[in-house]
Amino acid sequence: MANMIDILLLGAGGREHALLMKLAESERAGKLYVAPGNGGMLQIADAAPVNQDDPAEVAAWAKDNGIGLVVIGPEAPLVEGVADAVRAGGIACFGPNAQAAQMEGSKEFAKQVMDRAGVPTAAYRSFTEEDACADYVRELGGPIVIKADGLAAGKGVIVAQTTDEALAGVHECFTAFGDAGNTVIVEEMLEGPECSLLALTDGTTVVPLATSQDHKRAYDGDKGPNTGGMGVYSPVPILLDGELERMIEIEQKVVDQLRADGITYSGCLYGGFMLTKDGPKVLEFNARFGDPETQVVLPRMKADLVEAFLACDNGTLSEDMVSWGDDWAVSVVLASAGYPGSYEKGKVIHGIDEADACEGVTVYHAGTALDEYGKIVTSGGRVLDVTAVAQTFEQARANAYAACDLIDFEGKQFRTDIGLKAILGRENL
Ligand code: AMP
Ligand code: GLY
Repeated sequence: MANMIDILLLGAGGREHALLMKLAESERAGKLYVAPGNGGMLQIADAAPVNQDDPAEVAAWAKDNGIGLVVIGPEAPLVEGVADAVRAGGIACFGPNAQAAQMEGSKEFAKQVMDRAGVPTAAYRSFTEEDACADYVRELGGPIVIKADGLAAGKGVIVAQTTDEALAGVHECFTAFGDAGNTVIVEEMLEGPECSLLALTDGTTVVPLATSQDHKRAYDGDKGPNTGGMGVYSPVPILLDGELERMIEIEQKVVDQLRADGITYSGCLYGGFMLTKDGPKVLEFNARFGDPETQVVLPRMKADLVEAFLACDNGTLSEDMVSWGDDWAVSVVLASAGYPGSYEKGKVIHGIDEADACEGVTVYHAGTALDEYGKIVTSGGRVLDVTAVAQTFEQARANAYAACDLIDFEGKQFRTDIGLKAILGRENL
């Protein structure tokens, strides 16, 4: 019997529910704790009374409670240095330290690493003065992309078609995001379908996971405001020869460059790519698993996640720890009416068990909570991720939507076209 370890998982989204379920499958998984968790996670794990963004608090609680592995889901605790504090306390941690997490925490830092590593990304300039930035934008004109340097909860990117939109974006970045907008990046607009590639790394070895594609706009036909992601599938069926190899090579180069710079990047490296006619180019890096990408990648992955995460931490990761079948996964996000704007909470959710019982279907909780009677209620904008795994893309898609129809709560909204363009082919992505 492998020796078991108790695990603390930080986060509260669909991504963390998927991580928790995969960790729970491991023979090494002992007691599972979450902070803060959600309605689904708290059905299989206990709540740890810690602030996930407080490095000292997390490290102390983990030590006092005999935790053997801390897994960090979201970006904020990574950038705050929670991994550094946990490791300093002698406890294994999944997730990069604060310096390495700058790959997500500072777009300028990431661009500089990419420059040194010689990997393809959009041409850019960075500014610390609004006037100089606006002058540059007027000179170049739209279409152009404006980005706040720091973490802005997914809101700090303005893809501007016109110079006026871009100028409004410059003003917003400098004024609306606090310190995250002290530096603003002006970037060339890239064109093509997008593709995400998550990879595990111990700072030297990079093990790519499966490709996936998110749907960021709120409504069908890629209309409406940007969201955290409304649906996703894996793998991406429209890759051309050599594109996957190129994306893997880019991620390896970045990890190697960081190591050469004296920074060990261990954890998940999330590459967001634009598949341009000149090959894949990096849009951004995230220092964590994607949400909702994780909800289609992990159910397809064959691995002991506890072993793999420990190996990322202690530098023993190897390719043979992860394998894949030839199945497909599609996940549809059920959201609250009004999301990504304001929405109501506390709506009772019916039909989760019925949906979960469908073949190949798993319902991951995102914005849910347990009410005082133990009922599952809505508590966020993105409420549930309904994932189906099947032998064909079409079957996975059909099963996911059939399961969505079994779930009901007041104000339920979802896109009906997740994965549709992928079926039609490359030119439609
Ligand atoms: P990011 O948070 O940097 O991934 O940006 C969010 C989204 O903005 C991406 O998923 C793209 O859809 C879009 N985006 C970011 N950078 C660019 C770019 N240089 N050209 C075109 N679209 C972009
Ligand atoms: N799905 C986009 C992200 O996780 O950043």
